[in-house]
Amino acid sequence: MINWRIEEIGFDPEQITTNGNKFLVGNGYLGIRGTLQEYEKTEFPAINLAGIYDQVGDAWREPLNAPNGLYTYVTFNDKQFCLPMDMPADHSISLNYRHGIFTRDTSWYCDGGAITVNAERFASMDEKHLIVMKYSFQSEIDGELQIHTGIDGEVWDINGPHYDEMLLSVENNIAKAIGITHESKDQVIVCESIHTNFTYVEQIITEGRKLIRCLNISAKAGKTYQLYKYISVYTSKDGMDFDLQACNLVSNSKYLGYLEVRNKHIAVWEEKWSVSEVFIEGDDASMEALNYSTYHLHCIAPRHADSLSIAARGLSGQTYKGAVFWDTEMFMLDFFLFTEPAVAKTLLKYRIDTLEGAKKKAKHYGYEGAFYAWESQEGGYDACSDYNVTDVFTGRQMRTYFKDKQIHISAAVVYGIMRYVDYTGNYDLLTEGGIEVILECANFYYDLLVKKVHLERYELHDVIGPDEYHERVNNNAYTNRMAKYTIESAIRAIKLLPKLDENVQSKVREQYKLDMLLILYQDVNSNLYIPKPGSETGIIEQFDGYEKLEEVGLEELRGRILHEKEYWGGAYGIASHTKIIKQADVVTMLNLFSGEYSDEVLLKNWEYYEPRTEHGSSLSACMYAMLACKCNMPEKAFPLFLKSATSDLSGHGKQWAGLIYIGGTHPASSGGAYMTAVEGFAGIHHENGKLVARPVLPKNWSRLRCKVYYQGELHQVEITQDQAKISKINN
Ligand code: BGC
Repeated sequence: MINWRIEEIGFDPEQITTNGNKFLVGNGYLGIRGTLQEYEKTEFPAINLAGIYDQVGDAWREPLNAPNGLYTYVTFNDKQFCLPMDMPADHSISLNYRHGIFTRDTSWYCDGGAITVNAERFASMDEKHLIVMKYSFQSEIDGELQIHTGIDGEVWDINGPHYDEMLLSVENNIAKAIGITHESKDQVIVCESIHTNFTYVEQIITEGRKLIRCLNISAKAGKTYQLYKYISVYTSKDGMDFDLQACNLVSNSKYLGYLEVRNKHIAVWEEKWSVSEVFIEGDDASMEALNYSTYHLHCIAPRHADSLSIAARGLSGQTYKGAVFWDTEMFMLDFFLFTEPAVAKTLLKYRIDTLEGAKKKAKHYGYEGAFYAWESQEGGYDACSDYNVTDVFTGRQMRTYFKDKQIHISAAVVYGIMRYVDYTGNYDLLTEGGIEVILECANFYYDLLVKKVHLERYELHDVIGPDEYHERVNNNAYTNRMAKYTIESAIRAIKLLPKLDENVQSKVREQYKLDMLLILYQDVNSNLYIPKPGSETGIIEQFDGYEKLEEVGLEELRGRILHEKEYWGGAYGIASHTKIIKQADVVTMLNLFSGEYSDEVLLKNWEYYEPRTEHGSSLSACMYAMLACKCNMPEKAFPLFLKSATSDLSGHGKQWAGLIYIGGTHPASSGGAYMTAVEGFAGIHHENGKLVARPVLPKNWSRLRCKVYYQGELHQVEITQDQAKISKINN
């Protein structure tokens, strides 16, 4: 049994940023960093919002943080008690990750006795616009207490400030802050209403962009003073009457009361775990890390929308511009496909609805078809900058080619859609625009093909594969194979067309010359060059010329570092001219297409590339772990699985790319941990329309149990060291 709780005892100011990620709570609409109520900008508190962005000047466009409606601190006998300034006598924070409830318990010494503050809060899973907090105060002596609570409109931003104006008001005892954004004049509204178990004299204070209620109490020793806060968050994108709804929500929730609201929230979490919990007998630490990882995926699942995706750092802040990468389709999607297919559909619908953006991007570079954004924001706008890394040595921005050359992104979108089709057995996404996405992505790759006069094959030149340290290479094995996959999918989709709605059929036939496309695609399918395993070595060259790069050990390369934050790739990065790669590349390809290679080739490439991989991206370890499972090496897979599953628990992930802060949660790594457990160790996959298992459990795992949706039906999976059972659950 695991206890579903992580905690940190004692106060360490060095951990403030890491804890903000590690103790995050969220409900898909918003994420609240694991920060304390009294924290201000300098401690990076954030109520990070999904799918709404703003840009100030030429700075990076990034998602919005809402005004902080949780803002609260106490003064006692005229002395203010706030972390990190006032060191506490005792302090701990905890997260119940079964139910997404964050708590803090802090006491300070005060003349003549201790004072204690306890608080718990959650982002309601039952009502996406609602945050609720219980805040309690106790002292060992009588004294004059002031609880300051309100909304802090001094919002922490990386590239802000995003609010040109912050309108503060109190009406009918509801405090309200409305932030007006810079770029689109969107409005973000936060309302709060309080309820207490004590009487007080209230003063309303505004300090800059802070709206504070100051509750004055003559406090008695030993008595618990309890404050309940109901906070609503809406934006003008939530419909016409968002202001009214925000006010009504806090009033109604206050009427329901804290316990009732909390119980409803817990009931939704229990419903989620009833399908998604993974049981591992024999290894509690792995079970904890795995379910903690999927906790984070639940916190950022856009259940409130029907077309929205997940940012690379989830809802933990503004790093990576709140943008959607290939992380979603290649690393997070399977968790949702297996446990909540409706969310998988929402994620992919976002790609369908941003097809126009992808076509525009292709056109911008002079290509046909759809070139999806490397860092996608709303409408498919590519937030990736041409200068995405700041050089630590010169302070200048470096030209990077992620946006223009990482063409494998379009294939990832197609991969997601086809995986949805296969795992749900449903053609709804194809009908709702998926088929156009597949054809447009195929046309994009078709347009990029290069044919040398003396060679009877097509190639793809000047790309960046998953390993971003080697820019502008030819014939990256992963990219070529994924382009071929896209072409194969387009052929498959054309053949599936007669099974789709008649209106869709005629629309697609009108728009595309399908007979001609079939001929072209079949030709590409047979002639697109896929680098082959070396006849003697069995090694697949990552790209043309990789073999000729400098052979250097990872540790020796590290020894060449001149600055701890220097970027390893780009024009003169220390890895660029060597065989050291950032993340799984050929190994990712082999993992996806393992059936096309012999066991020997899979093993040889794993053994060749693993020591040459920095694992400088949190996306890397799980791909190696999964291929290790396919090579029957659970003992090699296990530490890599743990690395993925604990990336947010340990907080050891990379925090910097050049001078750019890239910290936050790592949902792709969480998704990778899930994939490794369920698809790697348990070996769950589908074959000829059936769900099957090919398990290779780690030695100390005596049993793995989980539930998985396949083609609309929920299945119970039970794996032991010598048996695998998959059975349908009859409702
Ligand atoms: C990785 C990419 C990834 C991005 C967002 C980068 O460091 O190299 O593969 O998509 O981070 O997670």
